[in-house]
Amino acid sequence: MKIFILIKMKIPFFRICLTEEEKKYVLKVLEKGQLSFAEECAKFEKNIEKITGSKAIFVNSATTGLHMIYKALGIGKYDEVLVPSFTFVATFEPLFHLGATPVFVDVISEKYPVIDLNDAEKKLSKKTKALVFMHYAGYLSDMTPYIEFCGANNIYLIEDAAHAFPVKNEKNYAGAFGVAGVYSFYGNKNLHLGEGGVILTKDENLCKKLKLMRNHGIEKIAFEREELDVGYDIYFPGFNARPTEIQGALGNVLLKRIFKMQKRRKEIVMRIREKLEGKFIFPFDKKTPSSYHINPLFVKNSRQRNELIKYLKEKGIQISHHYPPAHLFKYIQDRFGRLKLEITEEISEKEITLPLYPDMEEEEVEYIINVLSKF
Ligand SMILES: Cc1ncc(COP(=O)(O)O)c(C=O)c1O
Repeated sequence: MKIFILIKMKIPFFRICLTEEEKKYVLKVLEKGQLSFAEECAKFEKNIEKITGSKAIFVNSATTGLHMIYKALGIGKYDEVLVPSFTFVATFEPLFHLGATPVFVDVISEKYPVIDLNDAEKKLSKKTKALVFMHYAGYLSDMTPYIEFCGANNIYLIEDAAHAFPVKNEKNYAGAFGVAGVYSFYGNKNLHLGEGGVILTKDENLCKKLKLMRNHGIEKIAFEREELDVGYDIYFPGFNARPTEIQGALGNVLLKRIFKMQKRRKEIVMRIREKLEGKFIFPFDKKTPSSYHINPLFVKNSRQRNELIKYLKEKGIQISHHYPPAHLFKYIQDRFGRLKLEITEEISEKEITLPLYPDMEEEEVEYIINVLSKF
């Protein structure tokens, strides 16, 4: 009989690891003295285009990216947008700034925690302009039904692909199935730039509009203008959504090992799933392609979840929650009353997110497995 002696470890939810070479690459930008959007950012944009085969607009966060997409598509006052409630606030927050209304839609199940088209159908109205699909945890579902639904109802399909870089199926990269999508490069994302995001689109005109919008509606960013060319005009009021050269440089250097990091994430997720599937529910089929951004699991009920949280805290394993139901936030209840989204409420009470990062040591993975199997 195998006896495991669990020596208590401390495992953070996420840990960043940068090589000396990567740090040096970023330091070079500081030495060059050009910190605002310039060659590194432009190069990063091109690199993302090469990988995804779509047009890319590098911005300072996914939240701003979504705001820009909604605005560029003309979504505004009196318009409604179908959004999941089982998501981060950034998916729908910009809609409020535009005077539009997010309409919260339930998810399918804990196995498929993505927006449910049956519920979406019930919530469609003459005012519906778009549906936002959020790629939960980085898994890329079959997008065909969503494309068909949006096509049939003449509404935009927009992807919140904040979790989903890099992942593709036989057709496309996540983020490239609808009119536009957005990746996040926040500090704990697969490509961690501190802050940052990229909008993807295959529509050249939309791309042009978004590039203008990123820079106050001005055609050229300062570094693109001739030295003596100080004049400029604006096409429309935009944003300052420019990322910095530091983010661009870090992005370029990290892209060199993004697929290696993703492979390691996958190994960790699969090892944990193989040992613990059955005891816990892991979302999606193992074959569903994923960026493996986070490693969520579901337990039987909220009582068991509370016990598990307490137990993991005692064992030094830091966890997170993806997500509290958005429709139960105070602001949302004040606006729309007490909405009822049964599946979202039920699965939210059963979810915890395990630590996951590519530099996780073998013994850390073993520790997580051993601790969880003893629960
Ligand atoms: C699902 C989802 N959408 C949007 C965002 C916003 O990303 P950012 O922090 O880059 O604005 C996040 C961030 O974690 C997210 O998880």
